[in-house]
Amino acid sequence: MSLLLRPYTSADFETLLAIDQACYPPGIAYSKRILRWFLDQPGAYCVVAEEDGQVAGFVLVEREGTRAHLITIDVLEGARRRGIGTMLLDTIEHTVAARGARAIELETATDNEPAIAFWHKHGYRTMRVLKRYYLNRIDAYSMYKPLAPPKEA
Ligand SMILES: CC(C)(COP(=O)(O)OP(=O)(O)OC[C@H]1O[C@@H](n2cnc3c(N)ncnc32)[C@H](O)[C@@H]1OP(=O)(O)O)[C@@H](O)C(=O)NCCC(=O)NCCS
Repeated sequence: MSLLLRPYTSADFETLLAIDQACYPPGIAYSKRILRWFLDQPGAYCVVAEEDGQVAGFVLVEREGTRAHLITIDVLEGARRRGIGTMLLDTIEHTVAARGARAIELETATDNEPAIAFWHKHGYRTMRVLKRYYLNRIDAYSMYKPLAPPKEA
């Protein structure tokens, strides 16, 4: 198996949309319009993971000043528990920290146990519960991780 992490290009758009729709239930997965809007934000960073030449996942983060917001991280079901999510997250944390971010925030559904385990493993802590955050009925945790400034070269 060969794994490649690389920046998003516009040719990936339809693939990432399909992956997001495979990773989240209808109504929580992003629509074409919303995904494009996030990708077009001036502070957006998106990294794609390719396994043996096929896109297996991606992460999308938006940075504004010292704060970053993780919009989504998606790994196809058949590619999970092999460290791809961890590699995507490490890469994007380093990228936004190098550009000035000192913390990352995100939201995750309170019933998404795999994701919660993933976030805890990577040092994210719950700040509060956002009532009925998804579809006006599913609660979410607002999570946070401070980022260390990059070490001097
Ligand atoms: C969350 C997600 C990105 C993790 O991707 P992944 O490539 O499977 O993650 P990794 O293999 O790097 O897992 C790292 C660690 O996270 C934890 N973890 C990941 N999936 C887990 C699961 N299903 N159950 C328990 N712990 C889990 C484990 O501690 C794991 O380490 P281990 O495999 O050595 O035990 C993936 O499950 C996913 O895309 N889910 C659907 C979309 C989603 O919910 N995204 C996050 C919502 S904000």
